[in-house]
Amino acid sequence: MNTLTERRSIRVYDPMVKISKDDMTKILDEASRAPSSMNMQPWRFVVVASDEGKKQLEPVLKGNRTQLETSAAMIVILNDLEKYQLAETIYDKAVSEGLMPKDVRDRQIRSITNMVPSLNPDRVEKGGLIDCGLVAMQLMHVAKTYGYDTCPIGGFDHENIVFALGLDPLRYRPALIVSIGKKAEEGYPSTRLDIKDTTFWL
Ligand SMILES: Cc1cc2nc3c(=O)[nH]c(=O)nc-3n(C[C@H](O)[C@H](O)[C@H](O)COP(=O)(O)O)c2cc1C
Repeated sequence: MNTLTERRSIRVYDPMVKISKDDMTKILDEASRAPSSMNMQPWRFVVVASDEGKKQLEPVLKGNRTQLETSAAMIVILNDLEKYQLAETIYDKAVSEGLMPKDVRDRQIRSITNMVPSLNPDRVEKGGLIDCGLVAMQLMHVAKTYGYDTCPIGGFDHENIVFALGLDPLRYRPALIVSIGKKAEEGYPSTRLDIKDTTFWL
């Protein structure tokens, strides 16, 4: 299966098909192999799978009802503006897995600690959004390898969704929702611009 060419946005799923927490964890784990700036992995996932969770999400969705009602889960991808708080966790893991010497870890942490106060918050936010887009794309392809389909969803109240989910809106900024489930329709084919319309050759 070529997930790159076969993926389509699917908006209606079989509501009887749920995804176990184990499988969802594996899917998110594989998706998280996505690259990110300085490997800071600013994406945070809110897996909205329960009826209560979906009720919480409902008022801040704009349209996209069929995905909410029929998907196994709506995965809200948030951009953590305080991603550097997890730098030690990331580098400690690299050391314990034998991927990085301890002194390199210490140097990196020192340089991040010195750098963070001088960072432009706007650039941190925009950089994190790029990383969230990459993980979202990877999530959609990984889902297909597990036999599920997805739909990227930007149609929601970006100002209020984080608060509605009970999280800190000053720390987390919404990037995208990805609905996931077993498809109950084929979706429709879509065209793409010709490369001549999108590419500058220098
Ligand atoms: C950032 C973004 C936001 C989107 N928002 C929605 C949405 O709110 N509802 C929806 O049904 N599809 C949404 N889509 C899906 C696009 O309509 C779809 O990707 C596009 O038409 C191409 O179709 P395909 O995904 O089947 O290839 C969104 C896609 C992206 C990348």
